[in-house]
Amino acid sequence: MKSLSRLLSLIALLLAGASAHAAAETPAAAPKPEKAETELTRTMDKVNAAYRKLRKQAGDAAQNAGSLALVATIREHIVAAAKLEPFKLTEIPAAGRPKMLEGYRAKMKELLATIGELEAALKAGHNGEAANLVEAMKALQKEGHKEYKSKSID
Ligand code: HEM
Repeated sequence: MKSLSRLLSLIALLLAGASAHAAAETPAAAPKPEKAETELTRTMDKVNAAYRKLRKQAGDAAQNAGSLALVATIREHIVAAAKLEPFKLTEIPAAGRPKMLEGYRAKMKELLATIGELEAALKAGHNGEAANLVEAMKALQKEGHKEYKSKSID
C-alpha cells in the first residue's frame, strides 16, 4: 500500500513537471501593439458599415430606397474623409507629403464619381449596373488602402 501511494505521488510529480515544462515552452503571446486610431479610421468605419449593407442589397430593386439612403451615408462620410489626411503622411519624409496628399484626394474624387454613378443607377432601377458599381468601389478601396493606408492601421 505504501509503495502504491509512493508510486502515485511519483506519477503526480512527473505530471506536474511535464505541465510546467509545457508552460515554459509556450510563452504567453506577445501583446499586440495598439493600432493607431485616427479621425479617418473612425470615418472609414462608418463608410464600411454602410458599404457592407449596400453590398448585400444593391442588386435587389425592392430595396432601392434603403440602398439610396446607404449611398447618401457613404457619400457624406467620404466627403468628410477626403478633407482629412492619411496617417501615412506622418511616416514619410516631408518632401513627399504634398504628392501623396494629392494622390489621396484624387482617389477619393474617383470614389465620389463612382458613388454618383451608383446613385443614378439605383434611381433608374438599373440594379445589375448598381451591383457592378458597388464592386468597382471595392476595387477603389483596395487601391486606396494599398497606397495610402499605413501598415500600423490594419
Ligand atoms: C468603399 C470604400 C472604402 C471602405 C469601405 C473603406 C474602409 C476602411 C476601414 C474600415 C478603415 C479602417 C481600418 C481599421 O480600422 O483597421 C479604413 C482606413 C483607411 N482608409 Fe479606407 N475605405 C474605403 C475607401 C478608401 C479609399 C478610396 C481610400 C483612399 C483614397 C481610403 C483610405 C484609407 C486610409 C488612408 C485609412 C487609414 C486611416 C488613417 O490613415 O488615418 N479608403 N478604410
